Amino acid sequence: MRLKDRVAIVTGSTRGIGEAIARAFAREGAWVVIVGRNGERAEKVAAEIREQGGQAMAVVADVSRMEDAQNLVKQTLDTWGKIDILVNNAGITRDNLLLRMSEAEWDEVLNINLKGAFNCTKSVVRQMMKQRQGRIINITSVVGQMGNAGQANYAASKAGLIGFTRSVARELASRNITCNAIAPGYIETDMTAALDEPVREALQKQIPLNRLGQAEDVARVAVFLASDDAAYITGQVINVDGGMVMA
Ligand SMILES: NC(=O)c1ccc[n+]([C@@H]2O[C@H](COP(=O)([O-])OP(=O)(O)OC[C@H]3O[C@@H](n4cnc5c(N)ncnc54)[C@H](O)[C@@H]3O)[C@@H](O)[C@H]2O)c1
Repeated sequence: MRLKDRVAIVTGSTRGIGEAIARAFAREGAWVVIVGRNGERAEKVAAEIREQGGQAMAVVADVSRMEDAQNLVKQTLDTWGKIDILVNNAGITRDNLLLRMSEAEWDEVLNINLKGAFNCTKSVVRQMMKQRQGRIINITSVVGQMGNAGQANYAASKAGLIGFTRSVARELASRNITCNAIAPGYIETDMTAALDEPVREALQKQIPLNRLGQAEDVARVAVFLASDDAAYITGQVINVDGGMVMA
C-alpha cells in the first residue's frame, strides 16, 4: 500500500475524477475526506469506501467559500489529527463564446476552479508546514495549455492553476511540501457526457492514443504524485491526455 494511513482531502469527490481519485487513494490505504456540495452524495461515496474496508468521512463544503474551506480543514483535523495530501479537483464549466459570456459565468468558474484551490490550499498549508511534509495536487486541464473556443473562463481558470501550482511549489519546497498539477485531456465523466457524437468523434481524432480517457487514468497518476515515489517531483504539470498536448 503506497498511501498507508495518509490523510487525504479530495475536493469534488462525489463523482467523476475526484471520486476515482478518492477510491484509488483509499485502496492504497489512505484515509480520505470526500468533499462536495451535496451531503447525501458525499456520504454515499464515503459509506461505500468504508464498506470495502477503507477509511472515509464526508464533509459538505463549497470550495469557493473560504469559510467552508477552513471548516473542511478543521473537521478533518478534529477527526483525524493531520492532513498529508490535498487534491484540488472541484471544478465546473459554464461554456459560452466570449461575446455572449456573462459576468456571472466568468465569476462562477473562476471562483470555484481557481479561487477554490487558493481557499483550500491556504487553509491546509499551516498544518502541512507544522508536519514538515505535504502533497498538493491541482487538477488543471489541457484547455489551460491550448485554449478552447467557448471556454475562455474555464481555460483562464485552468491556466491560472498552473501558475498557482508553480508558485506554491517554489514557496513550500523548503518545508518538504510538493505541489504538482495533472492536466487531463478529455475524460469520460458527467462533465463531458454532454458532448454530442460528432464533437466526440472530432475530439478523438486529436488524441494520438485514439480514445477518450477514463477517470482511473487520472487517479493512477494522482496516486503516484501523492506517494513516496514522487518525492523529488514538484512544480510539474503532468498531462494525462492520450498524447493530445506534447510540449
Ligand atoms: N472530464 C474531463 O474531461 C476533464 C478534463 C480536464 C480537466 N478536468 C477537471 O477535472 C476535475 C473533475 O472533473 P469531472 O469531469 O470529474 O467533473 P464532474 O462534473 O463529474 O465532477 C466535479 C465535482 O466537483 C464538485 N464541485 C463542483 N463545484 C464545487 C464546489 N463549489 N465546491 C465543492 N465541490 C464542487 C461536484 O460536486 C463534483 O463532485 C475538474 O476540475 C475538471 O475541470 C476534467
